[in-house]
Amino acid sequence: MSARPQIGIIVGSTRPVRVGRPVADEIAQLIEAAGADAVMLDLAELRLPLLDEAMPPASGVRSNPHTIAWAERIDALDGVVFVTPDYNAGYPAALKNAIDYLKHEWVGKPAAIVSYGWAGGAASAAQLAAVLTYIGLALDEQGVQMAFEQGDFDESMRLADPTAFVARSIEALRALVERVVAASSAALVDA
Ligand SMILES: Cc1cc2nc3c(=O)[nH]c(=O)nc-3n(C[C@H](O)[C@H](O)[C@H](O)COP(=O)(O)O)c2cc1C
Repeated sequence: MSARPQIGIIVGSTRPVRVGRPVADEIAQLIEAAGADAVMLDLAELRLPLLDEAMPPASGVRSNPHTIAWAERIDALDGVVFVTPDYNAGYPAALKNAIDYLKHEWVGKPAAIVSYGWAGGAASAAQLAAVLTYIGLALDEQGVQMAFEQGDFDESMRLADPTAFVARSIEALRALVERVVAASSAALVDA
C-alpha cells in the first residue's frame, strides 16, 4: 500500500470573516505531517445550493452537476474532519445541507469533529455527532473542542492569531488527526 490517505476537511462556516478557515488550514498541516493528504472542502467556496435533488440521497440517484461533483469529492476521501462553529447551540445550516446531499458516500467513513466556540462548541459538536452517527460514519468518540478566550478576536472580529488559538489545543488536535489517519489507512488496506 503506497497511496497516502486522503483526508477531507469540511469547513462548516461560510461567513466572510470566520474562524473556521484559518483553523482548518492549521489542521491541514497536521494531516500532512501525519502522512496523509489534506483535501480542503470549504463550503464557502463550494457554494452548494439548498438541497435540490428530486430523489432522496439514500436512493443513490444524483442528478444535478453540483450533487454529482460533491458526491465524487466525498467518495474519494478516506476520512473526514468536520470543522464547525457553534451557532445558537447548533452547527451551521450550510453544513447540514452539505451532509444531507449524500448518504452511502458517508457510510463507514472514519470521521472526527473539531468544534469551537465560547464553550468549545460543545452543543454544536453534540448535535453534529448525533447526525453523523445516525448516517453511519465511523466517528471518533472524542473530537476536539476549542474554547475561545477574551482577547482572541481583533476589533473586526477576526481571530487575531489563529496559530496561537490552535496552539492551545495542539496536542489534542495532533492526536485526533493521527487517529483519523490511522483509521483511514486501515480502511485503505481493507479495501
Ligand atoms: C449566527 C451565530 C450564532 C452564534 N451562536 C453562538 C453560540 O451559541 N455559542 C457560542 O459559543 N458562540 C456563538 N456565536 C459566536 C461564534 O462562536 C463566533 O462568531 C465564531 O467566530 C463563529 O465561527 P466562524 O467565525 O467560523 O463562523 C455565534 C455566532 C454567529 C454568527
